Amino acid sequence: MIRHLLSGADLDAATATLVLDTAAEMATVAGREVKKLPALRGRTVVNLFYEDSTRTRISFEAAAKRLSADVINFSAKGSSVAKGESLKDTALTLQAMGADAVVVRHPASGAPHRLAEWVDGSVVNAGDGTHEHPTQALLDAYTMRSRLGRLDGLHVAIVGDVLHSRVARSNVLLLSTLGAKVTLIGPPTLIPVDIAAALAPGTDVCYDLDAVLPDVDVVMMLRVQRERMGDSYFPSAREYARRYGLDGPRMRRLPEHAIVMHPGPMNRGMEITPEVADSPRSTIVEQVANGVSVRMAVLYLLLGGNNR
Ligand code: NCD
Repeated sequence: MIRHLLSGADLDAATATLVLDTAAEMATVAGREVKKLPALRGRTVVNLFYEDSTRTRISFEAAAKRLSADVINFSAKGSSVAKGESLKDTALTLQAMGADAVVVRHPASGAPHRLAEWVDGSVVNAGDGTHEHPTQALLDAYTMRSRLGRLDGLHVAIVGDVLHSRVARSNVLLLSTLGAKVTLIGPPTLIPVDIAAALAPGTDVCYDLDAVLPDVDVVMMLRVQRERMGDSYFPSAREYARRYGLDGPRMRRLPEHAIVMHPGPMNRGMEITPEVADSPRSTIVEQVANGVSVRMAVLYLLLGGNNR
């Protein structure tokens, strides 16, 4: 097993499949009355969050606790980071406290990679800037596999603000490793030139959502990340929704078995309408539940479970 999980590219097909299979075992714990395994008893997991998060932070916390690890939650607001402490000094502090794993979310792309150089424990990237979010890609792959029975040969459309999306980048890397085909769709202003070739050859780019819909097994809608937009990338929210939003009529043009995904948080009415988000095709709530099982699997495998 690898020591850190920083990128979707850290996982080869065998390792990614091991994570998904382990997550399926972990999911059985969620159905029990006592949702706990002793696997990481005595180990310490630090959640180091420099950026806002609801799902991911709570999910990692629940995952670590279900494995009986001690969990320390650190948020930059209200800590010495607000006094100007550097990431390195914070890392050395965590190191001194004996963290076995550090789960980090940071606004700077690459921050988890730096952190991995400074601590002895495992580092898990929980989202770095616009770069990567590998556990989201794993939980997305897990959700596709459990709904559709396979990943190999699936056609997955990832739609919207690809430019700012660490979810999209990690998904392209992981899905291509696992044999799925990805088409990136969005306005040309929100799809970086050459992204497909740079991430995974075989990935397609298309600017017309309607053209692709009848041909996909999965459509993954991305949040329009207005907090990362200095300039204006499209004329108006209405115009964006008209071209790239998934609404009822568009959803009905998908093949009957196709599923609709979104990592959350959603801009309801912009990239996705409530009718679609709350429809039986939507896996949005399942994705959240699966996230806990997948993060349990990641922590378990990185920390060696009972084998150490
Ligand atoms: C994503 C993120 O933070 O990168 N959300 C998540 O982790 N569930 C996507 C987003 O913020 O749009």
